Amino acid sequence: IKTQVGIIGAGPAGLVLAHWLKKHGISSVILELRSREYVEGRVRAGLLEQNTVDIIKHLGLGDRLEKEGIEHDGVYLSFDEERIHVPFSELTNGRKITIYGQQEVVKDLTDIWLEQGEQLYFETGAKEIVDFDTDSPKIHFEKNGEAGILECDFVAACDGFHGIGRKTMPKDSYKSYDITYPFSWLGILANVAPSTDELIYAYHENGFALHSLRSETVSRLYLQVDNDENLDDWPDDRIWKELSTRLGTKGWKLKSGPIFDKSITPMRSHMIDNLQSGRLFLAGDSGHIVPPTGGKGLNLAVADVKHLVDGFVDFYKNNTTEFLDNYTEQALKRIWRAQDFSNFMTTLFHKQDNHGSYTYRLQKAKIDYIKMSKAYKTTIAENYVGLPFESFE
Ligand code: FAD
Ligand code: DHB
Repeated sequence: IKTQVGIIGAGPAGLVLAHWLKKHGISSVILELRSREYVEGRVRAGLLEQNTVDIIKHLGLGDRLEKEGIEHDGVYLSFDEERIHVPFSELTNGRKITIYGQQEVVKDLTDIWLEQGEQLYFETGAKEIVDFDTDSPKIHFEKNGEAGILECDFVAACDGFHGIGRKTMPKDSYKSYDITYPFSWLGILANVAPSTDELIYAYHENGFALHSLRSETVSRLYLQVDNDENLDDWPDDRIWKELSTRLGTKGWKLKSGPIFDKSITPMRSHMIDNLQSGRLFLAGDSGHIVPPTGGKGLNLAVADVKHLVDGFVDFYKNNTTEFLDNYTEQALKRIWRAQDFSNFMTTLFHKQDNHGSYTYRLQKAKIDYIKMSKAYKTTIAENYVGLPFESFE
């Protein structure tokens, strides 16, 4: 097979890249290791920044998102059972977030890509990326036990944290950074109407909890648990009881309902400070992971793609790699911002030490300051809804 940009991975990064390149008349082919059912069923993030929604709409892919996505103008921050509201539209000139499941984004973008007769091969794992230091790199792949080669001008490795893109980068071309947090998230989806009009992030003596949602009838909630926790030890009643305690505040009650999805996700920060080697580029989780508190992962993947598209468009129009060669520098500015914000939200709301310890006191001091300061609320709001692209120029 031959194409202009060979894309590995049909997650948010790979799919947005493919559609955006097509809009500019640049061809691409996507290889995806897993089956369509697996990818579309994988429950993950749900928080879309204003930038992400704008991009999806700009690409003409936002019909269902517009109908089913739920816009939020603010968020609740709860600490020791007391809540503060941060009205981000008011603090950021009308910017918002939208709740719409990542797997719904993936379904929409996959459906439209295939309906348009474009190439996306499921159950096709990229095995090796070669010749990326020349003008004609190749991706060796395997489908149904048979080997194949995708020849392209560029390779975009959008293959997530466990993909081959990052592993292919020459070891001496980057510095890597790694933090493993001493806790994980137990996430559930339940058939019950959300008990809140905005998301709630909560610090409690028992640990962190987050109340999110997916629709008027489906709620998404998370609990901080230990890294070695086993789902078998978490029957539904225990989960609801713990959520109710941690999210609780005076006069408020959490509604419970049947849980239909349960999973545990470890929390880590990881990144490398170079996303390009010759004609190989990394975008999304293949280059960086942030802990999920604050919902930045998916949005960062889409932001990377924006810079990559700028580079490819410039190359095919003007035959110069100037923009492409700037990709890492451009993308890293937002990635570091998100690393900081995700770490900030994680350490602010998770239980890290005894209640009453120095660490706890610092957490509480921050919350007390957020309560009194419009400036601090604005800092949180502008990071949470996502800074405009111009801010990083
Ligand atoms: P992915 O979505 O990981 O897509 C990569 C794709 O590449 C996958 O489909 C994979 O199958 C494919 N692939 C891998 N290797 C190969 C290969 N060799 N050949 C071909 N294809 C390959 N973020 C939040 O903001 N909030 C959350 O609550 C949250 N929860 C998460 C829960 C889990 C379990 C995980 C893993 C991530 C979570 N994230 C969350 C992060 C967010 O989902 C990611 O940041 C987002 O998926 C990044 O998109 P991506 O396209 O870069 O990577
Ligand atoms: C969701 C996930 C997050 O990590 C977050 O900060 C907010 C919402 C979600 O899955 O809805």
